[in-house]
Amino acid sequence: MSVSVMMAACIRTVYLSLMLLYLVLLGMTHTAHSIYPRIRLSHKELWQLNRTWVFQGHGASLQPQTMLLDEGHERLYVGAKNILFSLSLDRVNTHPREIQWASTESQIEECMMKGREKPECANYLKVLQQYNQTHLLVCGTGAFNPICALVKVGHTVQDRLFAFEDDSVMSGRGRCPYDPNSPCTSTLSRGELYIGLYTDYWENDGALCRLNNQTFTRTERNDRQQLNEPKFVGSAVIPDNDDRDDDKVYFFFTEREVDAEGVNKAVYTRVGRVCANDQGGQRMLVNRWSSFLKTRLICSVAGPNGIDTHFDDLEDLFVLSTKDDKNPEIFGLFSTTSAVFKGYAVCVYHMEDIRAAFNGPFAYRERPEHHWTPYEDKVPYPRPGSCASQVNGGGFSSSKEFPDEVLRFVRSHPAMYRPVLPQHHRPVLLQTEPGRKLTQIAVDRVQAQDGHYHVLYIGTDDSVVLKFITIYNKDTDTMEEVLLEELQVFKMPAPIREILISPKRQQLYVGSEVGVAQVRLHQCALYGSECADCCLARDPYCAWDGLTCSRYYPAGVYTKRRFRRQDVRHGNAVQLCNGLQIDDEKWQRAEERFVYSVESNSTLLECVPRSLQAKVLWFLQKEEERHEVRGDERVIMTSHGLLFLRVKSSDAGVYVCQTVEHGYVHTLLRVTLHVLRGERVESAMTRNGDEEKAAVQCHASIGPSPGPSISPRSLGQPSVPGQHSKLWYKDFLQLIGYGDAQRVEEYCERVWCSDKKRKKIKRKYGPLGGEKRGKGRGDENSHRAPRHTLVT
Ligand SMILES: *[C@@H]1O[C@H](CO)[C@@H](O)[C@H](O)[C@H]1NC(C)=O
Ligand SMILES: *[C@@H]1O[C@H](CO)[C@@H](O)[C@H](O)[C@H]1NC(C)=O
Ligand SMILES: *[C@@H]1O[C@H](CO)[C@@H](O)[C@H](O)[C@H]1NC(C)=O
Ligand SMILES: *[C@@H]1O[C@H](CO)[C@@H](O)[C@H](O)[C@H]1NC(C)=O
Repeated sequence: MSVSVMMAACIRTVYLSLMLLYLVLLGMTHTAHSIYPRIRLSHKELWQLNRTWVFQGHGASLQPQTMLLDEGHERLYVGAKNILFSLSLDRVNTHPREIQWASTESQIEECMMKGREKPECANYLKVLQQYNQTHLLVCGTGAFNPICALVKVGHTVQDRLFAFEDDSVMSGRGRCPYDPNSPCTSTLSRGELYIGLYTDYWENDGALCRLNNQTFTRTERNDRQQLNEPKFVGSAVIPDNDDRDDDKVYFFFTEREVDAEGVNKAVYTRVGRVCANDQGGQRMLVNRWSSFLKTRLICSVAGPNGIDTHFDDLEDLFVLSTKDDKNPEIFGLFSTTSAVFKGYAVCVYHMEDIRAAFNGPFAYRERPEHHWTPYEDKVPYPRPGSCASQVNGGGFSSSKEFPDEVLRFVRSHPAMYRPVLPQHHRPVLLQTEPGRKLTQIAVDRVQAQDGHYHVLYIGTDDSVVLKFITIYNKDTDTMEEVLLEELQVFKMPAPIREILISPKRQQLYVGSEVGVAQVRLHQCALYGSECADCCLARDPYCAWDGLTCSRYYPAGVYTKRRFRRQDVRHGNAVQLCNGLQIDDEKWQRAEERFVYSVESNSTLLECVPRSLQAKVLWFLQKEEERHEVRGDERVIMTSHGLLFLRVKSSDAGVYVCQTVEHGYVHTLLRVTLHVLRGERVESAMTRNGDEEKAAVQCHASIGPSPGPSISPRSLGQPSVPGQHSKLWYKDFLQLIGYGDAQRVEEYCERVWCSDKKRKKIKRKYGPLGGEKRGKGRGDENSHRAPRHTLVT
């Protein structure tokens, strides 16, 4: 036996066994449909579809710490390690501008002398705020010596300004943490910076602060009642009413509950708030908040045994503004604190519920070892936690005029008794898939034909953004999650650190240590070109317009109202698309394929549904009868198709692949399986009558791969032909042990190269040899094209 033959045999064995294992595994995991997105796109596919652009900095890992969207200047600012970038919102990877801001050699040396590692001793830009119309405020860790500066960006886009303001560099103490890994959150309103951070080198002093050019107001130092080991996650200034003096600043963070012995206990999520105009007290609470209150945010699911599962660790927060600036919707991404069960949940909070908790009873306990109870005695006036404003009677022009009694009360009763419960008293989204961590959330509000939907974009620790909608069913009081898309935005797996959304531009801006990506929110044509495909997708951005699946605009946006079909709530394609669909029973419409297999060999009849959520059914057509193929130990139903481990001659026949989704039946494919005896292969290939079939076969194998394929998630799984690699027909024949590849090739060549035949094939399969719709790179429709026939 020659070396090459031995190698081929060896490769064949390894290859086949890997593939079988892989297909069987896929087939097994495919039963739980809910965790499957309708569409899954790899980084390469996103790129080929022009759906994404990625800015990678200059080779070195980017390590973005914070990002800021500036629609006015059409820029995205990215605070990274030693550098501030200004990127174009149109294309993040074109015309970047940058300001270098590294620590000096002596600063780095000093930092290392203090015992820090070299990578920590750099200037990580962690605070980035729009200071006013023409300037940004930027703060960095400055090699464990925080610094801030103002950056000029000009009045308009045309100014093209991006430089430090002269002499604006100042100390960043109290404005920026020392440690690059320290959590902090900030928001800037009317020239004042509100920030939650650790203010000291040793990370002992967690504080909520406000800074302007004259004052520095903060929570009390070393007051565990106010803050205990906080992790700062989010913040926002939200008006209560039309009196700006009544504006409140909300901070979202986690902290530890202190128990009787002062020993740290469970982690809880809190919302804390202060008055934006809080000036502190006159004799006591000088430069301290006179209005700081907090309460617990609950995100939990009821268990069957009456024990709730709590998601107490806030990972990220998104404030979705609405037309009413007093009532944004608050989205929290939470995880469990349990070491055993790691799950994630998204809960939504209404401002009215948050306000109600702050207007409710204060929490009180006689002694630390007692339970919390509602404070029932008389509360001093003005109510502790209220602002000095006209709305509150106008009796006090500043918090400095508040009676000591009020300040004393607020100091000793910072917590409210009632927690804030989420909308519907449950999470809108639950993820318990092990292995994957969820890190970030951004939300878009989308108007669809049957109402408004929240589209949730959730970042993971492996470079993926999940796009969900969640639908609440009032009648059954249940929540439905629909995973629309799974987008791998970076080539390398890395945790998503930031997601910003521009509804105006219909773009997401996603940051991770490997880069900053921009991703279009939707690409409706990917769902398919038929009414049913579009309708079943249930993407509120998309509707079927009579010709294609395209962006849905509510009536009135365009004066000429077009014919639209969309059903996000139910995805009822049967009702919506009936009559439009060519009768699916007409099998002629389905794609036809011919597969030749050799007896006793394994064979895959490939049929991959457009939707990963669809259920696939196989039928064998014998004479006038159709039997469902249910699979057994020899014939396995995999998510890639029907796999015959050892083909028998009695298996020959016409197989029909159908998908069912939401009751909608779709015939995808009709495959005629020919089973050949080993010695008959040769004659079958050269028989004249089979020329056309053979041409199809040759073509299907020799033609280039039709556009990108949708690869199953998971790296490190063995590659499957037609998936990542192209398997050539002659390789096939070699694999199945058919030696005379020369003649097959000759034959294919002859058919393939005959001009007349080629045109015929082109008409049938499109120029790329994919299928009718294939038009080349970036053609959205070519994307889910069924791939060439496989014979193994
Ligand atoms: C923004 O602030 C800077 C620094 O205080 C100041 O020089 C500039 O004039 C301000 N711009 C506007 C538009 O107020
Ligand atoms: C500092 O505060 C004063 C008084 O409020 C104000 O007039 C001035 O513009 C502020 N300076 C800066 C640089 O913001
Ligand atoms: C495929 O069929 C050929 C010819 O009958 C045979 O020699 C070979 O062992 C078969 N391969 C497998 C994997 O069964
Ligand atoms: C994708 O972008 C390239 C480069 O800008 C362009 O030539 C091509 O036409 C685009 N393709 C699609 C499908 O938009």
